[in-house]
Amino acid sequence: MTEIARLAAETESAVATAQTLDALEEARLAVLGKKGWLSAAMKELGALSPEDRKTRATQLNEVKDRVTASLEARKTVLADAAIEARLKAETLDMTLPLAESAEQAGRIHPVSQVIDEITEIFAAMGFSIAEGPDIEDDFHNFTALNIPPEHPARQMQDTFYLPKRGADGEQIVLRTHTSPVQVRTMRGGPPPYRIIVPGRTYRSDYDMTHTPMFHQVEGLVIDRAIHMGHLKGVLTEFCKAFFETDKVKMRFRPSYFPFTEPSAEVDINCSRDGGVLRVGEGNDWLEILGSGMVNPKVLEYCGLDPNEWQGFAFGMGIDRIAMLKYGIPDLRSFFDADLRWLKHYGFVPLDIPTLGQGVAR
Ligand code: PHE
Repeated sequence: MTEIARLAAETESAVATAQTLDALEEARLAVLGKKGWLSAAMKELGALSPEDRKTRATQLNEVKDRVTASLEARKTVLADAAIEARLKAETLDMTLPLAESAEQAGRIHPVSQVIDEITEIFAAMGFSIAEGPDIEDDFHNFTALNIPPEHPARQMQDTFYLPKRGADGEQIVLRTHTSPVQVRTMRGGPPPYRIIVPGRTYRSDYDMTHTPMFHQVEGLVIDRAIHMGHLKGVLTEFCKAFFETDKVKMRFRPSYFPFTEPSAEVDINCSRDGGVLRVGEGNDWLEILGSGMVNPKVLEYCGLDPNEWQGFAFGMGIDRIAMLKYGIPDLRSFFDADLRWLKHYGFVPLDIPTLGQGVAR
């Protein structure tokens, strides 16, 4: 019996110190396995006298019960610890953002986004989109717009001149504005027209608000009995929709363009309080576009009779109003192709371009 007591004590300590379920199983087999010491002791019972067998069997069964209970208890402790460790190792922080999938990683450039917004607004007013070439001839970019050679307005525009073309040495330029598409439209087919022209334009200029390539959107409406009220109505409607506020105030300021008469530059109100520019608030003014009634001379250059047809035109810097709407401070950064910049200022492609994402947020 002392031998059994010794073995039982050994087993208890092995069970108590087992650190893994495997080690515990090993300890169990050493007692209760086919070759375990308790199983061996049980086998020896048959050789005893009936009296001794009874006492001995009772003792062995007590030992067996105790050992089994200890094994069970230790097993529960180790199993709980294993679950605990696994939970710790597999913890998920549910507050972390989802990893981006490939199609969510790309961004729409603010210029593309703003072109989408502009076309959406004008499409709702019945305008369609027209386009023209970036490499333009002198006639479409200047002469037909009532800017003859030697006219001082040509110097206003820091033109990029290209090598002359053809036998007659036609002057070629990178278009300095989208207005030549007015000419192409009017010479391309009969009125009425109601078009907008988003596109690239070029001038030799470079600072925080100017880049040699930039974007404009031109507008042209030609019909019978079009007047300045239509111009004002369309541009007012546009500004409210684009800047997403009915509060935006507009100022039509007399101006000069050779291709419009009369001409007006349009300012919107803004505040610069605390160095932050806010559109539609405050009493400062910010110029956003040039406009006017199409000059009869331009209609004549394009083969239209000014007594029959009138209309208005406007031209607006797309990058400029993108900067205003989305608070982007430096125009040059638009064209740096810096992915960190695009990640910050760009738009998620699967978000449908809407007017509900701008200054109102
Ligand atoms: N083309 C002019 C510019 O680039 C803008 C403009 C367009 C003005 C149409 C009047 C009418 O500054």
